[in-house]
Amino acid sequence: MAKAVKINHITLIVDNLEKTGEFYEKELGLELLPAFKFDYPVLFFKINEDQQLHLSEWDDTPSFRGHVCFQVDDINSIFYRMKQLGAIDTKPWGKVRRLPDGAMQMFVRDPSGNLVELSSYPDAEINPAIFEDDLFMEGLYESKRNDYRGLRSENASLYHGRKKEE
Ligand SMILES: [Fe+2]
Repeated sequence: MAKAVKINHITLIVDNLEKTGEFYEKELGLELLPAFKFDYPVLFFKINEDQQLHLSEWDDTPSFRGHVCFQVDDINSIFYRMKQLGAIDTKPWGKVRRLPDGAMQMFVRDPSGNLVELSSYPDAEINPAIFEDDLFMEGLYESKRNDYRGLRSENASLYHGRKKEE
């Protein structure tokens, strides 16, 4: 049986290719790559050696809660930059948080309205001022749905191959 081995690329649908492309290039530091010679508006970006982000302009409606998560190398600077841009969206999943594994988590909208989560390694050094910010909240997001289907653990992590250093 085949097994999915890694995420190759994510395609986000955008309503403004240039503006949204600039966001991923300038704010998230992704490098523009050439795309195949498609007959529709498209941008390919390099995330790392194996993974790409694709943007394509179409008349679709972005998801309210569905998202992709990028691990970033500096959660502190991106928090203040996204706050300055007014890009942080607390409506779908609540405020900026520190997850039980120690990873920081925040949600932003790109200029086309796609929801993007940004996260840090569990042992990343966090600027203490962020914990005092109005956009930060302790504890897990609570939906009040009280529906506990699924698998849960105290030891869950966004970085299951790498634990927080004690
Ligand atoms: Fe997520």
